[in-house]
Amino acid sequence: MRKKIVAGNWKMNTSVSKGAQLASEIVNKSKEVEGVTLIVAPPFTHLTKVSEQLKGSQVALSAQNCAAEASGAYTGEVAALMIADAGASYCILGHSERREYYGEVDATLNKKLVQCFANNLIPIFCVGEKLDERESNRHFEVVKAQLQNTVFNLGEEEFGKVIIAYEPVWAIGTGKTATPEQAQEIHAFIRETLALKFGAKAEETSILYGGSCNPANAKSLFLNKDVDGGLIGGASLKADDFIAIAKSF
Ligand code: 13P
Repeated sequence: MRKKIVAGNWKMNTSVSKGAQLASEIVNKSKEVEGVTLIVAPPFTHLTKVSEQLKGSQVALSAQNCAAEASGAYTGEVAALMIADAGASYCILGHSERREYYGEVDATLNKKLVQCFANNLIPIFCVGEKLDERESNRHFEVVKAQLQNTVFNLGEEEFGKVIIAYEPVWAIGTGKTATPEQAQEIHAFIRETLALKFGAKAEETSILYGGSCNPANAKSLFLNKDVDGGLIGGASLKADDFIAIAKSF
């Protein structure tokens, strides 16, 4: 079933103790939120501690990335198994910052998808175009290729679990949000693209918007029929803002 979801990507922010405090504030305020799946994605080092804070609450835990391999001699990598063992049930994959700064390509992302599903982690799979791609009107083909090269390889059952996050790179951390019309247009396109491969199942997929989403603009974005929530960066670091966004449906 298509769910309303608000997920906070903390990126490389907060100390372990500050992260635990933020998680505890979010848990307290989450009681005001109904019918929305809330997810927080702290850095790896915080997972165990934040997991303790989230116990018994309606807030779920995600990692921001996982290794492409299962285990072994991969210095500095963190396996999906370890992430699940630390208490997470979701994992962000293919964020544009990973693609841009760490050279993540579709082939790597396919391996990471396999690792997530092998360890019962639900992927929050990110797609989105860069500014020059939008300006040259290539955003549809870019996003379509990102999906065709990765998510299209999933089996039906796996596809039924995946969450898609559309994050235009030009909107991330820039204060420049996609307009509600731009968001709806491309979210509908993403759903149509997914339907080419998965048919009616694409109606059930949650497609989140990410990129300078905040309490002031969340409502107008979430009103659109193909926008099922948000993947929030900066505004997820303040419990009040994060919860205000979750209350914007
Ligand atoms: P901002 O909300 O800070 O623009 O970040 C969005 C994002 O990249 C979430 O993954």
